[in-house]
Amino acid sequence: MQKIALITGCSSGFGLLTVVDMAKAGFFVVATMRELSRRARLDQAVMEANLGARVELRRLDVTEFEALPAAVAEIVNTHGRIDVLVNNAGYALGGFAEDIQLEELRAQFDTNFFGQVALTRAVLPVMRKQRGTRPDAPGLAGHIIMVSSISGLTSNPVTSSYSASKHALEGWTESLRLETLGLGIKVAAVEPGAYDTDIWSKNVKIGKVALSAESPNQARARRFSNVVKNRLKKADAREVSQLITRIALDPNPNLRYLVGRDARLRYWSQRLLPWKFYEKQIIKYTQIDS
Ligand SMILES: NC(=O)c1ccc[n+]([C@@H]2O[C@H](COP(=O)([O-])OP(=O)(O)OC[C@H]3O[C@@H](n4cnc5c(N)ncnc54)[C@H](OP(=O)(O)O)[C@@H]3O)[C@@H](O)[C@H]2O)c1
Repeated sequence: MQKIALITGCSSGFGLLTVVDMAKAGFFVVATMRELSRRARLDQAVMEANLGARVELRRLDVTEFEALPAAVAEIVNTHGRIDVLVNNAGYALGGFAEDIQLEELRAQFDTNFFGQVALTRAVLPVMRKQRGTRPDAPGLAGHIIMVSSISGLTSNPVTSSYSASKHALEGWTESLRLETLGLGIKVAAVEPGAYDTDIWSKNVKIGKVALSAESPNQARARRFSNVVKNRLKKADAREVSQLITRIALDPNPNLRYLVGRDARLRYWSQRLLPWKFYEKQIIKYTQIDS
């Protein structure tokens, strides 16, 4: 039986790499992106790995909430099932909390939180119905994998919007896991540290006031931006796509997967160090003291 995986945000980064890794692992992958005009890199990667027969590309924007149930129904009409949903699409909005406009914060939540929620809600009934149809794992109904972030568990300065959206996702995911475990649906979240993808370059989004002369934080925001550009090490994104693939193959995955040395260091230092010492180190490293 062919297992079907649905992945969002496949034009670059983790999404693109996960398409290739999951197809190599034997899944048929429905790879989606919001602009099919950005398909060239994915096409190239799929062709080089000779995986054309195991990958299909569809257009899907996670913020087109009303269109998501129909998009899921079309996939099920074509392929009969969805075994794995990888909610990967996302972006990071930068800017001091004071400078971020409410509509910018809402847009951040629309993609990183409501988009993942809406697509998951569209897929849940499909997974419920298909329980008991997998000869290799009779009690399993499907996997839902959230690409969260270490910023869903700890917060950095100057990315409050991103952290808030990923914290919301973490809370929602933990509840969903408890609600669906008895139905054979395995919900897991991946919390990467910094990895080398377009999120740091071509896809960087900064609030419109954040770096402008209008902002009282302009100088601090510029210093922070230079630290991120020049000092922050970004690891090989394949670590994350390979982890997602391992979770998809595991009939009994954990709830959370911290990935990256920086993510683990951040997580544990926040929990183990005295808070006032910890925050001093963060402010010093990010150069946002006044
Ligand atoms: N890289 C890191 O260091 C890191 C660390 C922790 C967590 N993450 C998370 O990993 C996920 C993937 O990011 P990445 O690092 O691989 O960055 P990326 O290379 O910028 O990829 C992000 C993908 O999301 C897509 N996307 C954005 N808005 C969308 C929407 N409304 N509908 C559908 N697709 C949309 C982008 O499509 P377009 O090409 O159309 O913009 C792109 O394909 C995100 O959820 C991010 O928060 C990344």
